[in-house]
Amino acid sequence: MMPFNNLGFVFKHFGSILYSKPILDDLCLFLQGFTDKESVLDIGAGTGAMSEFAYRCNENLRYVAVDPAEGMLKYAPPYLETYIANAELLPFEDSSFDAVFMGESLHHFTDIDAAFSEVVRVLKDGGRLFIYDFDKSTFLGKSVYMMEKLFGEPANFYEPIVLKEVLEGHGFSVTVIKHGWRYTVSASL
Ligand SMILES: C[S@@+](CC[C@H](N)C(=O)[O-])C[C@H]1O[C@@H](n2cnc3c(N)ncnc32)[C@H](O)[C@@H]1O
Repeated sequence: MMPFNNLGFVFKHFGSILYSKPILDDLCLFLQGFTDKESVLDIGAGTGAMSEFAYRCNENLRYVAVDPAEGMLKYAPPYLETYIANAELLPFEDSSFDAVFMGESLHHFTDIDAAFSEVVRVLKDGGRLFIYDFDKSTFLGKSVYMMEKLFGEPANFYEPIVLKEVLEGHGFSVTVIKHGWRYTVSASL
């Protein structure tokens, strides 16, 4: 497994490198229309890279993060409420959040169906989900997949079209945007 608990410093300084401008534009677009103090939950937040980018688009939201690695969360910015937890068992009541983010984290979850069931449970009616990850059907996506397998990671990478079907199975309406070997998903319940 990747030793995320010891990688906080590395991710704090280099973790945002793979967030290209088109991906950040999708994230800002996703956040348009959110009103002050709506709550977003960043799952597998690590040091909070995705929430930090989101904060630059909208600093009036309540930002909450979960990650099993305390060594990552300790580098999160002060406006991010942090909880040590897995995607598969979220420590929140039903209907707690207006939106959920997953930035380069979905492929690390061990049980994707359990994670999406938890997302649906903690989202309010009409809640929204933003995912950014790597496309397994591309050369670079496949390379990351093989590297992560070597590290003993779950490497649950998807082709976006397959992920769309999985999310629809959990009740989401889904829009996928491909960016070469990466993609974003904007979904709503
Ligand atoms: C590649 S890092 C991405 C961190 C951050 N979202 C970013 O964009 O920089 C993947 C993160 O997923 C977390 N993770 C691993 N397994 C997880 C699980 N079952 N539930 C939630 N997060 C998990 C790791 O601890 C790590 O911080």
